[in-house]
Amino acid sequence: MTGALEAFLADRTRATPYLVLDLDVVADRYTRLAAAFPEARLLYAVKACPEPAVLRLLARLGTGFDVASPAEIDLCLDAGASPGSLCHGNPVRAPGAVAAAHAAGVRRFVTDSAEDLADHLPGTSVLVRILVDDRGSATPFFGKFGAAPAEAVRLLRAAAARGLDPGLTFHVGSQQSRPQAYREAVRVALRAAGKAGLAHPALDVGGGLPVPYRAPVPAPEEFADAVRDGISGARAAGDVDGADLLLEPGRALVAEAGVLRTTALRVSRRPGVDHRRWVYLDAGRYQGLAETEGEYIAYPLRVPGRGGASGPVVLAGPTCDGDDVLYRRTPYALPGDLRAGDHVDLLHAGAYTASYASVGFNGFPPLPVHVVGTP
Ligand SMILES: Cc1ncc(COP(=O)(O)O)c(C=O)c1O
Repeated sequence: MTGALEAFLADRTRATPYLVLDLDVVADRYTRLAAAFPEARLLYAVKACPEPAVLRLLARLGTGFDVASPAEIDLCLDAGASPGSLCHGNPVRAPGAVAAAHAAGVRRFVTDSAEDLADHLPGTSVLVRILVDDRGSATPFFGKFGAAPAEAVRLLRAAAARGLDPGLTFHVGSQQSRPQAYREAVRVALRAAGKAGLAHPALDVGGGLPVPYRAPVPAPEEFADAVRDGISGARAAGDVDGADLLLEPGRALVAEAGVLRTTALRVSRRPGVDHRRWVYLDAGRYQGLAETEGEYIAYPLRVPGRGGASGPVVLAGPTCDGDDVLYRRTPYALPGDLRAGDHVDLLHAGAYTASYASVGFNGFPPLPVHVVGTP
């Protein structure tokens, strides 16, 4: 953890729960990712952490943005992004939303259906999202988005016929641990491009780059090599003669910049129910820890000031909801001397946390966000 985060967390009097973000970590991850993918245009996926200070920093560093709604467009414009640097990546849009985004200056959209394609105006770049294998992702899409390859080819041809500028995109699922997933997805996408007669399309390889939560993950360079291999394979097969690369990282830019500080409300022994202690925190599923659903994302934990021998625990949130249990199956051990009132920090919690908090379920307010580091 950085010195700036440690210094902020050293003040133990601040009300919890809260998220603290270090902008210097975001800048560092951006620099590393841009170096691993020098040939790609980076579009930050705003949904991962729409904190204005993060958006301002990334806009200043030159990233574009992947947005999903009118409010995210406004957030990016307010942060200094130019409308031409935005990609509207959500193929589910309300009637009129394409026209409104176009009027705001957005010129790149993602689509995956003929129904949506009909809304787009000539001259815009339309990336057809193709369905790819997302095995290896901690949070797969289960087919929610993406046209099957034959339909993707039809959509690409239809887009060209309507005077749009067609390209391709996919998402291999977030927290994707397999570089091979990108290699295969690139081949699937560029095969469709070739069939639609596109020699050198825009290819947006989405997000998905993983973060070392509690286990190491392959380096960004391994994913970049896999993407390049996929493009070389497509060239060798005669599908295309190249592709203009885009990348939409969310988690990989912001997760490690954040610490979510909680307080243990109660540490209970539950004779006859569980041999483990139950630790109830003041933040749970509805205060930013939505990605604990299915125990998909398991954050590293630390308990400042306690160092006793550890024993197994179940971690739960503060609300009356039965779903508000964070980790029941995932093994966690916390110090035996943990007491109610102690802080419990969730590390690498900068992505998909504060923006997921409910507005007040059970009377618990949204998660406050603090920012440290260089604006
Ligand atoms: C269209 C799109 N692009 C990019 C991302 C960012 O993905 P990640 O945070 O895994 O990098 C997402 C996340 O779900 C997405 O839906």
